[in-house]
Amino acid sequence: MQKPIIAANWKMHKTIEEAVDFARELKAEASTFTDRTVIIAPPFTALRPVADILRGSTVQLAAQTMAYAESGAFTGEISAAMIADAGCSYVLIGHSERRNLFGETDGQVNKKVKLALKTGLIPVVCVGETLEQRESGRTLSTVEGQIKEGLRNVSADDIRKIIVAYEPVWAIGTGKTATPEQAVEVHIFIKEILSGYAGIGDGRTVPVIYGGSVNEGTIDELMAHEGINGVLVGGASLKPASFMNIVRFRSSATV
Ligand code: PGA
Repeated sequence: MQKPIIAANWKMHKTIEEAVDFARELKAEASTFTDRTVIIAPPFTALRPVADILRGSTVQLAAQTMAYAESGAFTGEISAAMIADAGCSYVLIGHSERRNLFGETDGQVNKKVKLALKTGLIPVVCVGETLEQRESGRTLSTVEGQIKEGLRNVSADDIRKIIVAYEPVWAIGTGKTATPEQAVEVHIFIKEILSGYAGIGDGRTVPVIYGGSVNEGTIDELMAHEGINGVLVGGASLKPASFMNIVRFRSSATV
């Protein structure tokens, strides 16, 4: 059985010093949570200093996005190779804030996923519906489109390496968590779509994690559901104490 994944997305928060202090605390606790995969995604500026702190621990490092091109005249962008060079093993791709605020398209998500995999990074591919799409009964079709376009022409071998993050846009940063039942419905649906890819075999083995206002109070209930393989946490991951409580969710609930 795969380890549950607890990932922190710090978004545009934390100076290098703040990030390093947090990483030190996390590293000190890391030996107490070896049965789960803990990933933190600091802003670009803090990646290398945090990687230096985390070296030798089991805590993994992710970037929050990456460029869709390998290199060249893309002012302001950071490439997959640069992210790997900074010490990352993971990269978030297609977060709804990238899609909605910066116009990232499924086509770009697809290029990034392929490039991340080619570079040896594990993509955490984010999908999710808006409130309007949910209320008009388009949750599953929206997610299906994002998965199919985002993973177009990605080989079965490569799909087996990725993580999918289901993050309903209406639940991100709003304090409204999807109910476990709402999340599970979409997680199972995503795993079914992935099972339909030629050569994948059982799509249930691809980890699907939930994001959207996860906090210390909701983690145990979410993780008690088979099909929820972990969480991607924004706001509640910014304070070490609250993130640590999320990391230490009751593991007995996951089996
Ligand atoms: P939130 O963010 O936990 O603050 O809702 C989650 C995310 O955007 O990944």
